[in-house]
This record gives sequence, C-alpha cells and structure tokens, in this order.
Amino acid sequence: MFNFDLDRAQKSLVRWVGGKSRVLPRLIQYIPKESFSCYVEPFVGAGSLYFALHPKKAIINDNNIELINTYRVIKDNKDELIELLETFENNKDFYLKLRALDREEDFINKYSQVMRAARFIYLLKTCYNGLHRVNSKNYFNTPFGSKTSVKVCNSVHITKLSQYLNEHETLIECGDYMNLLDKIDSNSFVYMDPPYAPLSRTSSFTRYGKSNEWAYDSSQQRLLSFCNELNKRGIKFLQSNSTAPIIYELYKNYNIITFDSIRTVSADTSKRGYLQELLICNYNVK
Ligand SMILES: C[S@@+](CC[C@H](N)C(=O)[O-])C[C@H]1O[C@@H](n2cnc3c(N)ncnc32)[C@H](O)[C@@H]1O
Repeated sequence: MFNFDLDRAQKSLVRWVGGKSRVLPRLIQYIPKESFSCYVEPFVGAGSLYFALHPKKAIINDNNIELINTYRVIKDNKDELIELLETFENNKDFYLKLRALDREEDFINKYSQVMRAARFIYLLKTCYNGLHRVNSKNYFNTPFGSKTSVKVCNSVHITKLSQYLNEHETLIECGDYMNLLDKIDSNSFVYMDPPYAPLSRTSSFTRYGKSNEWAYDSSQQRLLSFCNELNKRGIKFLQSNSTAPIIYELYKNYNIITFDSIRTVSADTSKRGYLQELLICNYNVK
C-alpha cells in the first residue's frame, strides 16, 4: 500500500496556489485501502499528495510548462541546476532581469532547460508571497518579495526531491489531463485537484496560467467526462473541488464528501466559520 509521510509532504517543490498540504490528513483518510499499481496526479501543482504517498510508481502531469520543466530538470540534472542557482542573487534588479526573460521571443527554445528551471525556482523563492502568477500573455508578473532571509538555493532540498522523483519511478508529463487516458492502466489510482469551480457566477476564481477556461461550466463538464471514462474502465479516482452547486449536480452518481477546510477569520463574528470543500470518488468510503 502507501506510506504516508507528512514531513515529506511539507517539503513540496514550491508553494502553489491551491496547494493541498493543509488538508493532507483529510485526503489520506479517503485514499483507497486496496493496493494500486500506479499513482496518477493529472493536476500535480506542488504535488503535496504525491510527495506524501511514496507510490512505487507514479505519473504526474500539469499543463504548466515551466513547472513540469523544473520537475524534469530536478529529476535528471540536479547538479547543474544547483550550480547555476548558487550564482543567483537575491536583489530586485536581478529579480526583474530574470522575470523579464519570458517576454523575449522564443523564450522556451532560447534558454536551456536548466536555466529555465533555475529561473522558475528563483522567482518563486524571491517573489512577493512566494506565489506563482502570470498575466493574460502568460508572463510571470508577481512583484519582488524583498525578503532578505530567503535561501535561493537549497541544495539539500533539491537533492531530496531528485532522489524522490527517481526512487518512485515517476513519469513526468506536460499537457492537458485528457492526454493521460491512454497512459493510465486499470489498477491505477487517480487523484485530481483541478482548478475549482467558482462558488457563484459573480465570485472570483483562481486562474492558473493565462487562460480563464476553468471559470466556465464546460471545463467542469469536460472533467466529468474524464472521470466517467476512468470509472468505465474500473479505475478508482478521488477528486477535490469546491462546493459550487454545479459540482453536486455533475457528480450526483458518485460519492461526495463535504468537509471543512480553512477556518475563516473576520472582524465580524457572524462571518467567522469554515470554508467547505468537496471530495468526490467512485469507490466506497467509510
Ligand atoms: C489546484 S492546482 C493543483 C494543486 C496541487 N494539487 C498542489 O497540491 O499544489 C491545479 C493545477 O492544474 C493545472 N491545470 C490547469 N488546467 C489544466 C489542464 N487542462 N490540464 C492539466 N493541468 C491543468 C494548473 O497548472 C495547476 O497547477
């Protein structure tokens, strides 16, 4: 089965919007009790659950090209990455110069994979709040964080991540989650943490990358068709999502578990409470 390690989970690659480290103990409760041959995470982000589970074999995927390039470089080329990162300076001028590289024509082919991975890690370490954000042209646009205490190159952490990716036989894919259907075998377990459905038509939603496709119901309907296909093939899946009415409606034929996730703090005591999240799965849970 799996071997859950919360300490390891807290050491994800980067902080990521929607990261799951806070709710990991809750997620772990609902992982299938039977063994599975391969763990699949189609929207891996910072991969909190992947790094916690120690699967023997895994497929991780995301459509964020820079994120996936970074995982691949850490797996295959960590020494060059560490060497380059050690030369990077934590100051605003250096930050702005590195941040501007993705505005250059043919950025992806112009710079080496190692250079792009070092830039990605550096920007996330030194930017404001440590959070990845891009504008509508897909240019990284988080301001400089001005934190003098940041360790730009944590070689021990990068080495541990590299070992983890190699020891757990991980296939690292980059693209739309639908492309994984051909790669998932029937004894796999799939955990999905997609961008959440907005709670209402007027509420804000979290954009990942330049596209706002996940603001629309059609994206959640498309994800349902992916889940239906997994179900048809007898593949167990677990999905996190918001408590938006459309999610209850779309997944009415599956098991839905509602739980309190973040404690909200407000000056107005009547508005204090818990924000709820859903877990959806196609197997029995106690
Ligand atoms: C909520 S985050 C995942 C958070 C992650 N589970 C963690 O613990 O950090 C959603 C991820 O889905 C990715 N994404 C958005 N649309 C996608 C698509 N069509 N195919 C694959 N990945 C996608 C985003 O780049 C983002 O990293």
